[in-house]
Amino acid sequence: MSQTPSDLGTPSTSPSVTAAPANVVSIAKLADHVGETVRVRGWLYNKRSSGKLHFLEVRDGSGIVQAVVFKGNVSPELFTAADHIQQESSIEVEGLVKEHGKIKGTYELDAKDVKVVAPTAREYPISPKEHGTDFLMDHRHLWLRSKRQHAIMRVRHAIIKAVRDFFDENDFTLVDAPIFTPNACEGTSTLFQTDYHGDPAYLTQSGQLYMEAAAAAFGKVYCFGPTFRAEKSKTRRHLAEFWMVEPEVAYMDLAGDMVLAENFLSFIVARVLETRRKELEVLATEKRPDDPEWWTRHMKMLENCKAPFPRITYHEAIDILQKNGHTDAKVGDDFGGDEETTISKQFDRPVIIHRYPIDLKAFYFARDPANPKLALNMDVLAPEGYGEIIGGGEREADLARLESAIAEHKLPREAFEWYLDIRRYGSFPHAGFGLGIERTVSWICGLSHVRETIPFPR
Ligand code: 4AD
Ligand code: MG
Repeated sequence: MSQTPSDLGTPSTSPSVTAAPANVVSIAKLADHVGETVRVRGWLYNKRSSGKLHFLEVRDGSGIVQAVVFKGNVSPELFTAADHIQQESSIEVEGLVKEHGKIKGTYELDAKDVKVVAPTAREYPISPKEHGTDFLMDHRHLWLRSKRQHAIMRVRHAIIKAVRDFFDENDFTLVDAPIFTPNACEGTSTLFQTDYHGDPAYLTQSGQLYMEAAAAAFGKVYCFGPTFRAEKSKTRRHLAEFWMVEPEVAYMDLAGDMVLAENFLSFIVARVLETRRKELEVLATEKRPDDPEWWTRHMKMLENCKAPFPRITYHEAIDILQKNGHTDAKVGDDFGGDEETTISKQFDRPVIIHRYPIDLKAFYFARDPANPKLALNMDVLAPEGYGEIIGGGEREADLARLESAIAEHKLPREAFEWYLDIRRYGSFPHAGFGLGIERTVSWICGLSHVRETIPFPR
């Protein structure tokens, strides 16, 4: 059998890695089997009947296919039984693969046999009618089976694959960062403390400090893993557990960091547009009655997401705010969701804001030599009010200044001795950033809440 490229742009290693029995076919591959009798194994997604026909919508994770059970083709017992299968029972359908009469590129099964592998023990709680988000969140383990959640997770997968491909193809080395850590990287107010054999340890907020050590060993590195923040605020952009990818590069400055960030984000968006159009179309159906044009606008923003991105300083961002309704905005303020929305609305693609007041920023940032009150940092804001998706910048390379910063931030010095070693033994300019996967998925999918972007949100 010839190898076909997978939908993520890389050749599949083997056509039958899971060793499925003969003539069992995944729904996504039905196009290769027109005119053959195959078996599809999955779950009953939906069902309707009209006289001599039952239409069973079967899903198997790779797609959904309509199996047509025609009274004249099956035994009377089977025809009656097919009408009584409950939604989400696991079933196997054997049938002839045909191209759909009306919709080109769509296939259906002319059913010859339908077997119930396991009926449902009770009525499936998620029916096609509208449910509230709280109810759906309580049933997240089942909600994942729905078309919309399926589409979001497939986009998430494509984004993560693009993240890895980008760094792997650009000579970065993957260095995994630990989850238990003695260090507070992003401030002590959002730490989850655990008991590590009698000593406190924190769930990591960021792998950055470890990537700085790794950059001295490998030059260009990245980590990708779960990170944790005990966020006090419940917003549509914050999770307690989220996934972050963090590149760090030796001898890169802030300007280089911005170029890396814009090329990286452009690459991710282009990959999604290339491989996940169908999934985006599923998401386009989300109702926004007050704004019927939003999806067209959203897709245009995605198409536009090409480097270079506009760059503005923090001070220019304050000006934008003052001129756009935030009359009391002043230098020294941090930006919340509303401010980020106002700023991003001025641009047709992501925007980079750089050089924030150092007092607003974490201890590790380098100061701008031209104005030591400013950090050599940058944030990338997604368009359409999705807010900050990337944060990063140049790190303080000077040992004495870093020691003072640790003291000023009232961080426990002992926990950072190893980190100071990076400055003691061959200090070097370096920079990096972190991109939050969930906020990126949320923006690309056009979602209103970040909780739908991760399989099991916390
Ligand atoms: O801006 P942050 O806090 O930066 C860091 O953690 C740096 N140490 C990264 C680095 O330079 N290596 O977080 C980076 C990104 C944010 O831009 C956002 O996308 C995401 O992580 N993020 C969150 N996503 C979901 N829920 C939260 N509570 C998040 N906090 C940050
Ligand atoms: Mg940030």
